[in-house]
Amino acid sequence: MPIKACVFDAYGTLFDVAAAARNAAAAPGGEALARVWPELAETWRLKQLEYSWLRAVADDYVPFWQVTQDGLDYALERHGLDGDGALRETLLGLYERLDAYPEVPGVLRALREAGYATAILSNGSTAMLDAAIDSAGLRDLLDGAYSVEDVGVFKPHDRVYALAEARLGVTGAEIAFFSSNGWDATHAARYGFASVWVNRAGAPLDRVGRPPARIVDSLDDAATLVAGLG
Ligand code: LAC
Repeated sequence: MPIKACVFDAYGTLFDVAAAARNAAAAPGGEALARVWPELAETWRLKQLEYSWLRAVADDYVPFWQVTQDGLDYALERHGLDGDGALRETLLGLYERLDAYPEVPGVLRALREAGYATAILSNGSTAMLDAAIDSAGLRDLLDGAYSVEDVGVFKPHDRVYALAEARLGVTGAEIAFFSSNGWDATHAARYGFASVWVNRAGAPLDRVGRPPARIVDSLDDAATLVAGLG
């Protein structure tokens, strides 16, 4: 079935989630963080995701912004930085306006010009997504940004992937779905999307869901790749 829409995961796929810790470490007052920022960024991300999965299993939904703060608080304590309230505020402020990966605007523009609808499908709350889209200058390059807020459960629940189909008015097989999260890419494939894993970190394939249709290491050639899907 021909592809009609290109749907992107947000965090780690379009937006560089490590940028908050990296930028805070480089700013004045970031000396203590500078020693541990890669580890802190990794713990923050892992706990944020783990809490989202636990909340999905326990049917205990809260907005992703809360999950993001809980993950950060765990990471700050784990890395000995939990007494630094100013650092916590700085990191959360930076998380609200993460950098987009450099190839993202050009890729979205090329997909639009090729006639595909473009959208985000994310765990992020609507307010988080709005802030990130605006600060990265992506507003005019997207037809929609769909938040799990509207279905009250996190990825990889089927209700989340179904939300993209409903909003775009297309079937899963007509959606090229891009995620840098291996587990998101494999579950989107399991759901029936034409799934592309953007394996930025060179990680092994997750052993859950279904293998994605394609594996790439960045979004650079997304427009060419979509033409060959479906
Ligand atoms: C998202 C997370 C999973 O944007 O990266 O949904």
